[in-house]
Amino acid sequence: LANGVARTPPMGWNSWNHFHCDIDEKTIKSTADAIVSTGLARLGYKYVNLDDCWAEGERDNAGNLRAKASTFPSSIKALADYVHSKGLKLGIYADAGKRTCSNKMPGSLGHEYQDARTFAEWGVDYLKYDNCYNDGSKPQTRYAAMSRALRNAGRPILFSLCEWGQEDPAKWAGSYGHTWRTTGDINDTWARFAPLLIGCDVRSASKETLTILGNKEVIDVNQDSLGVQGRKIRSNGGLEVWAGPLSGKRVVVVLWNRSQARAIISVKWREIGLSPSTPVAIRDLWKHSFVSMNKRYRMGAYVAGHACKMYIMTPVRG
Ligand code: GLA
Repeated sequence: LANGVARTPPMGWNSWNHFHCDIDEKTIKSTADAIVSTGLARLGYKYVNLDDCWAEGERDNAGNLRAKASTFPSSIKALADYVHSKGLKLGIYADAGKRTCSNKMPGSLGHEYQDARTFAEWGVDYLKYDNCYNDGSKPQTRYAAMSRALRNAGRPILFSLCEWGQEDPAKWAGSYGHTWRTTGDINDTWARFAPLLIGCDVRSASKETLTILGNKEVIDVNQDSLGVQGRKIRSNGGLEVWAGPLSGKRVVVVLWNRSQARAIISVKWREIGLSPSTPVAIRDLWKHSFVSMNKRYRMGAYVAGHACKMYIMTPVRG
């Protein structure tokens, strides 16, 4: 969906992973404060996204969604104003069916225009749209309805399709929204990972966590202006090579060891779109240093179990 937002992947935070339904305006405000004070905001983490359970269990008499009075007494509009005053953006959560996934608040089925207008009036910048309790119609139909409603709501809102089911959203979601799910939820295991939407309690995040989330060289890859997704090049017994093109004819390479044991992972230039004899400068994005200034043909590195190495390859004149 080309409406000017999300030209590069959205970065920010979402309440679900850590807080589930246990959210209130104090938590969201102090999280926004922490995103600024930790320096994450400056690095691009700007969406503060409310997930499920922010609304009352039923709509009001006019059919409007309304914030849960016991947890968001000052209103979502006031929360958006607060988040905006910090230079951040507010995200919200809704559902394409009759109820949201928690079953604690109404879904937007049949109320798409009304809810999109409500979100726009409140100053919402991002909508995560889930697909629970739907009417069995194709998600393409239901997501298209909310996509149209958002386009007519009078405010550019990033539309995140929370649909990863049988319908292969990668094939169609791009015409309705900006992002779509590729997997189930993240959780604290090696098998589940996510985009740069932070899922932890930022207010108590360790220095190590903040250093990882705040690695500017890695973020710059995520936000590169070329905007072309990386992809898995090769996978063998949990040893994976991922790569993708960056602006300036550079290539990013990730050597990812999903296994338990340390191993050598190597990659040949021809696998990643470079001609074999091209000399490249190789920069290690975790060590923040160059490992070579004119390497040709291939490279390899030891990667510890459950670790990854990430490099930018810049062709140099031979
Ligand atoms: C689903 C989604 C989660 C979260 C919950 C909210 O399970 O996958 O990310 O939004 O719904 O109930």
